[in-house]
Amino acid sequence: MAADETKPTPQPVVARLTRAAIFLVLTINPGRESETAVRSMCGDLAGLLRAVGFRDLDGRLSCVMAFGSDMWDRLFDGPRPKDLHPFKEIHGVHHAVSTPGDVLFHIRAARMDLCFELAMHIMSRLGDAVASADQVQGFNYFDDRDLIGFVDGTENPVDQAALDAAILDEEDPIFAGGSYVIVQKYLHDLKKWNAIPVEVQEGIVGRKKFSDIELDDNVKPSYAHNALTTIVENGKELDIVRDNMPFGDVAKGEFGTYFIGYARSPARTEQMLVNMFVGRPPGNYDRLLDVSQAITGSLFFVPSATFLDSVEPDAAPSSSPAPAPAEQSDNTNSAPSNEDPEGSLGIGSLKDEV
Ligand code: HEM
Repeated sequence: MAADETKPTPQPVVARLTRAAIFLVLTINPGRESETAVRSMCGDLAGLLRAVGFRDLDGRLSCVMAFGSDMWDRLFDGPRPKDLHPFKEIHGVHHAVSTPGDVLFHIRAARMDLCFELAMHIMSRLGDAVASADQVQGFNYFDDRDLIGFVDGTENPVDQAALDAAILDEEDPIFAGGSYVIVQKYLHDLKKWNAIPVEVQEGIVGRKKFSDIELDDNVKPSYAHNALTTIVENGKELDIVRDNMPFGDVAKGEFGTYFIGYARSPARTEQMLVNMFVGRPPGNYDRLLDVSQAITGSLFFVPSATFLDSVEPDAAPSSSPAPAPAEQSDNTNSAPSNEDPEGSLGIGSLKDEV
């Protein structure tokens, strides 16, 4: 069947999981020239991608470009995506921080050199227009495992189900073909994690460590990660598309998971985060967070590829930026908190539980 030409083409949000990725979070420097440089990049990205990607077509190089809420009105005229707002900080048993980010580039390929080459071209084009808020190089670790040793990505939707989970349609027709993406950089205390018996770890994740088989409902704790991140509306599971990547720096003793989740509504991922950080019911939180600390958190809108291609570098918004809707100014999600005031990983509470 021919593709529906009236529908905008999405960016490669649901690209297959790859062996390498670079997550580039940038802030845009003040000034009209900076904004013009970023708008130029919108139209240039596809060409850069073709040039670098053509050097190894089997390398499956892809790149998604996304924009933070504050930046949207500085860059683009006209309406804004309905659900775009800054990342909502969560004060629960643990703390989900909100950190700066105006533009995200999510670069994926079978080889890191392809990702690196594209990232270099992007940064050299943007030059002084941007500053780096964070840059993470993720790698694939034995059988798609996280550094905590569990396979990550098993229950991700695929094919049409992935498009249904991640790509906007009639709910915001002007931005159909777009998506929302939330990123968080987690650091694991591997010493503490590895001291936990494997059977207890399996209860925390909700799956067997070696075989990756899901635990039976009658033995799975209600605080298991895969229980708290399963959300249902009108009898239907609401999915997101994840492409988490391990990263680390052995010299610094840094071991992490870069979480990235695409969804057609940010509310899905936000609900999962509330279940994890606050608990469902409150207090029944995700024990992974006793050993994993979120040190960044940002929300972006991913316009369609059709939108990106149509951006004119000199088309600055005519009016001054519209203020964010009132409800968005309160960017916190509070709940009764028994967060450790010392800011420790709270492993003590985990010990109590097990
Ligand atoms: C420290 C960070 C995290 C780690 C190490 C982690 C790891 C895992 C693992 C090992 C699984 C089981 C395998 C799978 O189905 O993929 C899983 C499942 C899942 N995770 Fe995470 N995750 C992290 C953060 C998050 C966050 C922040 C969210 C959402 C806000 C999330 C959403 C999900 C979902 C939706 C599933 C599938 C649940 C199901 O349907 O069975 N994860 N995660």
